[in-house]
Parts: sequence; structure tokens; C-alpha cells
Amino acid sequence: MSSDPVLKNLSKLPGVEAPLALKDEGPLSKLKRVGRPIRELRKIPTKQLVFYSKNKEPTFTYDIKYKLPVKKHNIVIQVKAVGLNPVDLKIINSYTSNFNSFRGIGREYSGVITHVGSDHAVEWKEGEEVCGIFFHPNGFGTLASSIQIDPSVDSIIRKPKNLSFVTGGSWIYTFGAAYQLLNTVKNLNQSSRVLINGGSSSVGLMLMQILKTYFKVEDIVSIVAGSALDLVKRYGTKLAINYKVNPDIPHVLEVLTATGIYKDFNPEGEPTDTSINSGKFDLVIDCIGGYTLVEESRKFLKSSSEGGKYITLVGDVKYNYSKDIYNDWNGAFVNARSMFGTAWSINYTKFEFNPRDKEFLPVGAEMLENGEIVNVIDSVYEWSSFTKAAKKLKAGAHGKIVLQVEDF
Ligand SMILES: NC(=O)c1ccc[n+]([C@@H]2O[C@H](COP(=O)([O-])OP(=O)(O)OC[C@H]3O[C@@H](n4cnc5c(N)ncnc54)[C@H](OP(=O)(O)O)[C@@H]3O)[C@@H](O)[C@H]2O)c1
Repeated sequence: MSSDPVLKNLSKLPGVEAPLALKDEGPLSKLKRVGRPIRELRKIPTKQLVFYSKNKEPTFTYDIKYKLPVKKHNIVIQVKAVGLNPVDLKIINSYTSNFNSFRGIGREYSGVITHVGSDHAVEWKEGEEVCGIFFHPNGFGTLASSIQIDPSVDSIIRKPKNLSFVTGGSWIYTFGAAYQLLNTVKNLNQSSRVLINGGSSSVGLMLMQILKTYFKVEDIVSIVAGSALDLVKRYGTKLAINYKVNPDIPHVLEVLTATGIYKDFNPEGEPTDTSINSGKFDLVIDCIGGYTLVEESRKFLKSSSEGGKYITLVGDVKYNYSKDIYNDWNGAFVNARSMFGTAWSINYTKFEFNPRDKEFLPVGAEMLENGEIVNVIDSVYEWSSFTKAAKKLKAGAHGKIVLQVEDF
């Protein structure tokens, strides 16, 4: 029992002792501060650009974290730059109502490896600069401070040394599409005659360079806007036709293939004649879509029995990045294929890029490193300016639109 009368009186319950007084152990300042133990980081925090639906602006999330240690089959990459492709807008367009869950944006990237799972420790090292495709249309995207990939699924390659992160993070999708498409065509050679509808598109610019340097094709004709005439000539086009001042392109092509002469005006307004070898095209590659060209292609394209081929990347309707949705062009395409294919003996096919195919990556990296091809950049934006970048893509870019990812 306490001898302190004040404490004694605090005890209200009979038989229960009052609390004891604390011994005087000196001022509290004598207590020592002890540092908290350093805990190991259990997760990699990330910042990612995501969307909920086409009706809502993309937004940043910090909710996605990768567990540490990374799984043995994974590699984590700090992303530096991401090429924006029409497929990114098509995926966003596919989601019309707001869901509770978000989805990522971006399918290609360049960056630096930060973590390597044990399965890949021999092949990949932390600090290596890489680029690749991370194609998960309904899942995460590459517009993220870090991505976690599985190299057995997601194609990855060392970034060509002469490329910046911007050029290194934006060549793969368009090169892959162009290279795979051209490899579906048999007997392409120096004497082949090729027409590219939409030569100033990112895929078109890759197509003409691969045609010229890899297949040694000389006669490449492109249909572009007047502002892209010089650009496409710089990258392999022999003759460029301005679709903005030639309302009847099929007729222009008919005259060109019959006579070998193209009449135009130079910037000073004087009439000019450009000559190429006459003869119908062996191959038409359509990066724009629509009926206009294909429905009159007999006038300038060899028939299927003569080996002529019309390949579209888009389909029967001209592309529209504000409306087109991912994987939705088969129905419309099938109609035209049966109509033109059977009735007019035109070999009209669709092409679809396979982003999981790994064969084209080393070919493209080598061609870029050797300077045989160039990844043409239209413009670069910070990733916080995604909406501006998307607007530019919709308005008509002449080369790649690239987003830079800030360090996080
Ligand atoms: N099927 C597949 O697997 C696959 C793969 C890759 C791409 N694609 C599709 O292929 C198309 C091209 O892709 P991309 O990334 O290369 O496109 P992009 O870089 O956005 O280029 C589109 C280009 O078309 C030009 N253009 C617009 N209207 C035209 C017309 N009437 N005639 C000629 N040129 C015109 C635009 O410039 P101006 O407006 O200044 O003329 C712009 O340079 C897209 O529709 C894309 O979705 C399909």
C-alpha cells in the first residue's frame, strides 16, 4: 500500500491498492533516441498514365507497385520514351463507358534495366539500355515510370547505340509492321514497281526505306500531302504525288503507268514533268484505307494472274483515329475482298502486324545501327502532354510522335 496520502485517496475500490509513485530517475532528457531499423523496400513504386474510357482524359495513377524481389522470369525497366501509335488511340476508343478499373497506354518503349529476375541474369544486366514491345491491349501500358516484362513473351533488345531514347523508343512498331508486311510479298526485287498510299505515315516512311535498302527497289511512288513531298523523296520515294491538288488520283496513276510521265507544278508555280519507267505496279501498299484507290486499281495495278498485289493496313474505310476501334476492321474488309478479289481478279489482302513475333527486332536494330534506315521523328512531347500528342497524331503527323517519361 502506498504511503502517499494523495495516492491513497485515489483508490476508490475497497481492497484495491492505490498506484505507486514513480521513482525519480532524473529528467526525461536522459532518454536516448534509438533509430528505427532500416526496412528493406518491399515494392517498386510506379507512376503510370492510364485511362478509364474514351470519354475521360487519361490520368496518372500511383496504385501499381511491383513486388520485390522480382520474379525469376521478370525484368523491370525504367522507361525513358514511348512511341505513340494509332493502335493506342484505337484501344482507348474501344472503351466507351467508364469502368472502375483503368488500363495502360503505350505499346513500345526505350529505357534502362533496373532489376533482373534470376532466369535472365546471364543475358541481361542492370543498367543496360534497351527497347522493346510490351503489347497488352487490355492491361498495362508502357507510359509508366517502370514496366515489368517477361522476355519470353515481350520482345526486348539492346537499344542501338547510335539512337537516343526518343528514336530508340519509337521505331519498333512501325518497323515491325513494315518488315513483316514486305515479307509476305514474294519476288520483290530491284525491278519491282511499288506504290505507297500514305508515304508520309510512320509505316510508309519505314516501308520505302526497307524497300530501297533491303529489297533494292528503285521505282517507289508515294501519295502524300504537298508538305511531305520533299520528306518522302529524302527517304526513298522516286516520285511523289500530292493528293491535295490531284482530286482524281486513280486517273493520275493510270496516266503515269501508261506513259511514265507525271505532270505537276514546282513551288514557283511552273509546270514540271517527272519521268519513271512506264508499266503497272506490282504492289500497292495502302496505309490510308478506303475504297477510292482499290476500286479503280485495275487501271494501274497488275492483275492477280500477272502477280499484282494490293495490301491494305487499314481496310475499306479511311482511317479516323477519333473513331477507329481496335480489331474492328475485319467485317468491312471481308466485303471488299470478296467483291474485288473474285469479280475483278485483284489480289486484295489485309495485313495485320504480329507484335509477338521476335524475328524482325534484330534486323531492324542492325539496320538502324548501320544507318541503313532512319526512324523519322515528327515531334516529341512530355508524357504529361499526352492529349496534345494524341491531337497531333490525329491531325496528321509526318513521322513518329514520341512521349518522354520523366524520372520518378
Ligand atoms: N494492320 C496493322 O497491323 C497495322 C499496323 C500499323 C499501322 N496500321 C495502320 O496503318 C495506318 C498508318 O499508321 P501510321 O502509324 O504509319 O500512321 P501515321 O504515322 O499516323 O500517319 C498517317 C499519315 O497519313 C497521311 N494522310 C492522311 N490522309 C491521307 C491521304 N488521303 N492520302 C495520303 N496520305 C494521307 C497523314 O499526313 P497528312 O494528313 O499531312 O497527309 C499522315 O502522314 C493507320 O491507320 C494504322 O492504324 C495498321
